[in-house]
Amino acid sequence: MSVLFLLLLSLPLLLSPALSFPFGNTSYFIDCGGSTNTTDPFNTTWLSDRYFTGGATSVVSEPLHFLYPQEKNLRFFPLSSGKKNCYILPLPNSRYYFRTFTVYDNYDGKIELSLIRRIRRGIATDPPVIGSLEIRQIDPLSYDSSTIGDKFILVNYGRLSCGSSQWGPGFSNDTDDFGRTWQSDSEFRTPNTKKIINSISTRETITGTVQPPNYFPMKLYQTAVTGNGILEYDVSVDAKMDYLLWFHFAEIDSSVKQKAGRVFDVVVNEKNVERVDVFAEVGSFAAYSWSYTVHNLSSPVLTVKFVPVVGAPIVSGIEFYALVPNDRSTMPEQVVAMRALKESLRVPDRMGWNGDPCAPTRLGCLGRSYMPSQQR
Ligand SMILES: *[C@@H]1O[C@H](CO)[C@@H](O)[C@H](O)[C@H]1NC(C)=O
Ligand SMILES: *[C@@H]1O[C@H](CO)[C@@H](O)[C@H](O)[C@H]1NC(C)=O
Ligand SMILES: *[C@@H]1O[C@H](CO)[C@@H](O)[C@H](O)[C@H]1NC(C)=O
Ligand SMILES: *[C@@H]1O[C@H](CO)[C@@H](O)[C@H](O)[C@H]1NC(C)=O
Ligand SMILES: *[C@@H]1O[C@H](CO)[C@@H](O)[C@H](O)[C@H]1NC(C)=O
Repeated sequence: MSVLFLLLLSLPLLLSPALSFPFGNTSYFIDCGGSTNTTDPFNTTWLSDRYFTGGATSVVSEPLHFLYPQEKNLRFFPLSSGKKNCYILPLPNSRYYFRTFTVYDNYDGKIELSLIRRIRRGIATDPPVIGSLEIRQIDPLSYDSSTIGDKFILVNYGRLSCGSSQWGPGFSNDTDDFGRTWQSDSEFRTPNTKKIINSISTRETITGTVQPPNYFPMKLYQTAVTGNGILEYDVSVDAKMDYLLWFHFAEIDSSVKQKAGRVFDVVVNEKNVERVDVFAEVGSFAAYSWSYTVHNLSSPVLTVKFVPVVGAPIVSGIEFYALVPNDRSTMPEQVVAMRALKESLRVPDRMGWNGDPCAPTRLGCLGRSYMPSQQR
């Protein structure tokens, strides 16, 4: 009797496509410009367009380039619709992951808004457009928020899965509880690294994955690169900002059986920041993650090197986030950083900078409704 009762109770949960997580279940998948609700091949249901303040809808000029219904139409905000080009959603106070899909001219890639600098041509004069908007609640303690505080938005400049092709929501059926997508590290390897690199992978279970507060997926640690010398990555960024780097490691080569069997240094822009012995930290087939903040970066490139000490370095993933202040009462050096960011994003003046036209007037800031990011 009680068994039957439980079964009936859990049935609606099993059938419900809604996300269910201990850190919070609020999520929105909005097909901007779309007039019907649709479900994509990854089983995500996209809501017809809503929560916008104005603008007009259109179809992408070459819809055949785009596979999914939520990518075929868009909302744009012509000049005549004024400054308030917004989506305003009812969100409980928490931390969120934002991701947008934007189509621009003949550009036909998927981007997260952080990559908007790649399509900077013309963006200052043409109307802002948005193809889809994805918002997911994430753990309030994720990405070291207890240390960093709630004054910064994390803007993604690269989220690399080493020795793998691109995966995650919208690209593959692999799950990531925060909805993160992971890029292949291959295009970020420097030419010397390309010559010496080996990709390795395993199907073994990796312990210590999908743990609060960051819920890093197991798949991230099931592939890695190793090599025969220094592994080096270059990522283009914007200077004069602070960057939060997350490093992901797992010893997935069963020939390394003890600590001191594989040791390497992590060097960020020529500064040696950490000596890593993954086995000594967590043993083998276990995830080891570690973060580092680069302050006031003086160059437009972040270079990360893994330098052998004993054996060859092994790396599973690296994440690069700019720490963008979300408060407009900023310190003088942050004003410089924000000007650089504004310049790099080519944010049109009419979209406002000294106060986001979409934000409640008292809380004007960059990003509250414009930048894809994580924020409290
Ligand atoms: C997709 O969702 C539907 C209902 O929400 C479910 O019946 C189906 O099994 C899901 N498919 C996959 C591949 O997860
Ligand atoms: C998310 O939904 C599940 C199932 O409905 C529930 O058990 C869980 O407590 C929810 N999480 C939060 C943080 O509310
Ligand atoms: C789409 O789904 C939402 C939520 O389930 C519903 O409120 C809305 O009426 C649907 N829209 C259309 C056009 O069917
Ligand atoms: C994801 O899974 C569904 C159901 O098994 C399948 O129809 C779809 O082709 C898969 N998508 C990809 C990109 O593998
Ligand atoms: C950041 O670096 C610039 C020069 O690269 C320097 O002028 C400025 O004072 C630095 N700001 C901080 C907060 O260290």
